[in-house]
Amino acid sequence: MQKLLIDGKNILSGRISISGSKNATLPILAATILNNKTIITNIPLVNDIFTMLDLLKFIGLEYKLSKKKNSVEVFNSDKNINILAPYKLVKTMRAGILVLGPLLAKYKKAKISLPGGCAIGSRPVDLHLFALKKLGAKIKIKNGYIFATASSGLKGSKIRFPRISVGATENTILAAVQAKGKTILDNCAIEPEIHDLVKFLKKLGAKIKIKKRKITIEGPIVQKKISHKVICDRIELGTYLIGGALAAKKLNLTNIESNLIKKEISILKKMGVQMKISKKNIKVFKSKKIRKINIKTEPYPGFPTDLQAQIMILMTQAKGISKIKENIFENRFMHVPELRRMGAKIEVKNNTAYITGPSLLTGAEVMATDLRASVSLVLAALIAEKRTSINRIYHLDRGYQNLEKKLINCEARIKRV
Ligand code: UD1
Repeated sequence: MQKLLIDGKNILSGRISISGSKNATLPILAATILNNKTIITNIPLVNDIFTMLDLLKFIGLEYKLSKKKNSVEVFNSDKNINILAPYKLVKTMRAGILVLGPLLAKYKKAKISLPGGCAIGSRPVDLHLFALKKLGAKIKIKNGYIFATASSGLKGSKIRFPRISVGATENTILAAVQAKGKTILDNCAIEPEIHDLVKFLKKLGAKIKIKKRKITIEGPIVQKKISHKVICDRIELGTYLIGGALAAKKLNLTNIESNLIKKEISILKKMGVQMKISKKNIKVFKSKKIRKINIKTEPYPGFPTDLQAQIMILMTQAKGISKIKENIFENRFMHVPELRRMGAKIEVKNNTAYITGPSLLTGAEVMATDLRASVSLVLAALIAEKRTSINRIYHLDRGYQNLEKKLINCEARIKRV
C-alpha cells in the first residue's frame, strides 16, 4: 500500500491551479444519462470521477476522456441500457446513488445498491427515497439493493425535505426534470454544486428556479449536444488556503471563483490570515499570529463540514482554545487521535472539538480514515518537525488531483512510496 512521506517545516512558495469541483462533476455526470451527447470540461482527474465513469459505462453509456484537456464527452444512445448500479461500484463511491433519479425518470426503473456505512457516519439514503416516492416511485429494499419503479412515469409534486441533504436534493432534481408537471422542493440544499447542476440542466431546456431553500422544477428536457464547464473545487481551494496560511511565504491560488468561499474567507480573516483576494485568484501568506475562533459546520452558506479537519490544523497554531461544532456528520473527528499523536492538544466532547494552541507538531506515523481527514494530516505534516508518514493515502486520490505534485511545485518535501 502506498504512503506519503512528508518532511515538514519547509516554507512554501509558488502557484497552485485549483481543479474543477469533484462534487459538482459527480451529479452532472449522473445527469448525462438524461442526454445523448454531453461535453464536460474542467473535470478533476480523481478516482471518484473515474468510478462514476465506470458506473456510466456499466449502465451502457460511452465516454471519451481527455486527461490532457480535463474534459470528457459522454454519449447515451439508449441502447443496451442496464438499469443497475452494482455494489462493487457504489461501495467505493457513495455518489453512485445519484444515478437513481435519472434512471428511474428516463427508463422507469432502477436497481441501485444501498451504499452502506462510511467512516464519518451511517449516511442513510432515506431522504432520497422519501422524495422519489413523493414523485410517484414505488420503492422496495431487498438483498442490499433499492428496487425502484415508476411504470407510468414520475409526476411533479410538492415536497418538503425534513432535513437538508445535498445528495437527496440533487437526486430529486435529476428525477423531477423528467416528471410530468411542476415540482416544488422546499428545505433544499443550495450548495454551489447544486447551482452548477441546475445551470447544466437549464442548458437542456429545464425550467428551474432557486429562491432561498425553495427549488421549482419543470421539465421536460430536450436532448441536445451541450457543453458545460464545472465550477472550481471550493474544498480544494479552502484546503490550500489553509495550507498557505500555515506554511507559505506566498501561495498564489489560481483558476478559482473566490465568491464561492465567502464564509471561509470571513473566518480566515477573523483568525488573522493575510490574503489578497480577487475574483479569479487569491494570494495567501503565512500568518505571524493566528487568533482562536469558534465555528460550527452547517449546510451552505455555512462553514462546510468538508473543511472541518483542515481548519482544525490552523487552530492548533492559534493562541488559546478554539472550538469546532460538527453539525453534519456524527462521527467526523476520526483525524483527532492521529493529530494527538503528532502533538496536537484536542479534546472531543459529543460533537464538539476543543483545540488548544499554539502547539508544536512533530512528525509521526499516522493513518488516514477518509478523504478530508487525510488531507488534514498532510497539512499538519507540512508544519511538523521532522518526518511524517501518512498511510492509506488512497483516500486522497479519490478527491485531490495531483496533490503532491501541486505541493512539490511549491517547495514542499513530499515523497510517495
Ligand atoms: C455531500 C458531499 C460531501 C459533503 C456532504 C455535506 C458529494 C458527492 N458529497 O455528501 O462531500 O460532506 O454533502 O456537505 O457531493 N442524510 C440522511 N438521509 C439521507 C441523506 C443524508 O439522514 O437520505 C444525512 C447524512 O447522514 C448527513 C447529512 O444528512 O448527516 C448531510 O448529508 P448529505 O448532505 O446528503 O451529504 P452527501 O450528499 O452524502
